[in-house]
Amino acid sequence: MVKATKKIVGVGGSPRKGNSEWMLTTLCDELTRLGADVEIFLLRKMNVKMCRGCLACEKGGKNRKGDCVIKDDMAGVYPKLLAADAIVLATPGYMGMLSGMLKNFLDRTCAVWPRLESKRLAGLAVAEEDTFQTMDNLKSYGKLLKMRWVGGVKTLAKLPTDASRIPGLATSLKRLAKKITNS
Ligand SMILES: Cc1cc2nc3c(=O)[nH]c(=O)nc-3n(C[C@H](O)[C@H](O)[C@H](O)COP(=O)(O)O)c2cc1C
Repeated sequence: MVKATKKIVGVGGSPRKGNSEWMLTTLCDELTRLGADVEIFLLRKMNVKMCRGCLACEKGGKNRKGDCVIKDDMAGVYPKLLAADAIVLATPGYMGMLSGMLKNFLDRTCAVWPRLESKRLAGLAVAEEDTFQTMDNLKSYGKLLKMRWVGGVKTLAKLPTDASRIPGLATSLKRLAKKITNS
């Protein structure tokens, strides 16, 4: 068992209730079972506006407060990211990359990014034919922020419930959950 205080934030970056969301909830259910304190943010249900690029959030430099001039649901996410031990990003592969929804979320973390250093990062990716750079995009984010990459699970699926029927996928997700809690 892990310490009950291990905090994990999951972020779902698909505009639909589909494969990456199933992967995220399956992983997070296992993390909870292992004793972690897990919170999931599904971007499709949230009001997260586009980053305006104003860089006002940089005030304070490395100790920036986590303030964004845009007043939306990110205000509730920043404190959770700052308190997290590990962050799990789940995304469909769109045009070989991340979903626009998740990319914008990552852009909006500009308000806290220097303070995410050393936190654990894991990724989930799904695409119909090939995830191409999707997982690398997630790793690049972690590298830029000096986070510690724990691992990722990627798979191929198209229709929203396809991933849930892939043999062995739930087992891979449970294995990743264990790695995250032990990291
Ligand atoms: C805008 C868009 C772009 C996509 N681009 C790709 C792609 O480049 N390669 C691929 O294999 N599948 C691509 N797909 C298919 C999705 O990745 C696939 O349906 C996946 O299961 C979606 O995950 P989700 O159910 O979590 O939303 C694309 C789908 C959409 C809607």
